Amino acid sequence: MNAKPTITFAKLSVPRKGSAILLVADDLSLSPAATACDSGGHLVRSFSISGFKGPFGGSSEVLAPGGSPLDRITALGIGKIAALNEFSWLRLGGAAAAAFRGRGEVTIVAELPGVPVGPAQAAAIGAGILLRSYRFDKYKTKRDDEEQEPTPALRVTIACAEPTAAKRAFTALANVVEGVCLARDLVNEPANTLGPIEFAAAAKALESIGLSVEVLTEREMKKLGMGALLGVGQGSSRPSRVVVMKWNGGKPRNKPVAFIGKGVVFDTGGNSMKTASGMEDMKGDMGGAAAVVGAMRAIAGRKAKANVVGIIGVVENMVDGNAQRPGDIVKSMSGQTIEVMNTDAEGRLVLADVLWYCQQRFQPKLMIDLATLTGAIMVSLGQFHAGLFCNDDELSQQLVAAGLSTHERLWRMPMGEDYDKLINSKNADMKNVGGRYGGAVSAAQFLQRFVKDTPWAHLDIAGTAMAAPPSEINQSWGTGFGVRLLDRFVQDTCEGA
Ligand code: BES
Ligand code: MN
Ligand code: ZN
Repeated sequence: MNAKPTITFAKLSVPRKGSAILLVADDLSLSPAATACDSGGHLVRSFSISGFKGPFGGSSEVLAPGGSPLDRITALGIGKIAALNEFSWLRLGGAAAAAFRGRGEVTIVAELPGVPVGPAQAAAIGAGILLRSYRFDKYKTKRDDEEQEPTPALRVTIACAEPTAAKRAFTALANVVEGVCLARDLVNEPANTLGPIEFAAAAKALESIGLSVEVLTEREMKKLGMGALLGVGQGSSRPSRVVVMKWNGGKPRNKPVAFIGKGVVFDTGGNSMKTASGMEDMKGDMGGAAAVVGAMRAIAGRKAKANVVGIIGVVENMVDGNAQRPGDIVKSMSGQTIEVMNTDAEGRLVLADVLWYCQQRFQPKLMIDLATLTGAIMVSLGQFHAGLFCNDDELSQQLVAAGLSTHERLWRMPMGEDYDKLINSKNADMKNVGGRYGGAVSAAQFLQRFVKDTPWAHLDIAGTAMAAPPSEINQSWGTGFGVRLLDRFVQDTCEGA
């Protein structure tokens, strides 16, 4: 129903058909190419009449006058040129896609007076259009009201100074967009159709783009001693899986970076059951694993010169006669025992074994785990930052920087001995919940007990992976948070190293 826009790049020129989008800063001056499009000055004249002042993301439109081959001419505001950053160009693409409601033939004249619009920026506009156009509508058998008529998909030409370089940059970015949309699809997909086996199959399908993907069965996990992970899945009729994805695009002597994801396809809470209200959102409790799969998709798709492994623990937290009980004591792969005080604190149990497995098998250069781990992180940070917990200042700085560039923002949280003590247990080596306060921190402390000397970061994405407010580049419930961040982290810290 929602056909994907097609994006092409061309030299700056006056478009001969369809509609034109011109970039206009807050001084309302037009670039030479934009002036040529608005030859009669109709658009510029409309600014004072409509009160348009060129605010970032705002738009003002005129019907093209008689004699013009164009349908519409739209000014897309970019605000203060000095305030533009890398993320602005993605947002602008999103705003442009919104202005055309995803249909018709459009040329974006990517030129600003006195300021070059480089190929990376032109490419980012294209990526923003794709991100904004994403819809999860595979289960809609009827069109929504505003879309009664079948409409042609958006066909966009981005006219810019260096179209060949822009196209090259866009090809890489389009792979990242594919990764984001894959993660969104996985998060949006309901749990009846996306169990651990189906999730593992979605990851396995990435072999087609050159990843190597292994799927561990419960037998193999039992042999490895993954008692913490398996305990979570034992109340589900659908068996658990661990998936290992490998991308070796770097020098063979470089140790891989490892991404690890929590993949709880549905979290009822188990015997410590959640209340009914909002429980449907727990279909998104695999947002961490989705981000890892999406990032691997992006990295392999653009053939990153880096060695990366992605490992996800995929389970379903359900209740039946065999489900784990509060008070059960399980043995993790590390040998450490865990008293399961609350079966709803299941994500950390899954990650404990995956983190350990990852270190044993790969001795990675560093590990970054992503998990929709705690409601407490949403209380702390709301939905605009993910929580960052880290045992290494350099890694922390690199991640924060990647977060600022991509606008997938992170906020570092404290860790330490005082918090660690909260999870000591009377009956086992530790328990899986701390006290009433600082729940996101005690969860991170739990994970750290399964980290050896490896530089490690934990991203609690419970507030950012799903149900975040719609934005210029995302209108979907599942956000795909983490894909662009991880891809950027690889670009900045591995490639060229
Ligand atoms: N998956 C939830 C956390 C969550 C909550 C994610 C809301 C997204 C939105 C996690 O497994 C969980 O249930 N955590 C508990 C931990 C508690 C029992 C210590 C929580 O946050 O309440
Ligand atoms: Mn839970
Ligand atoms: Zn959970």
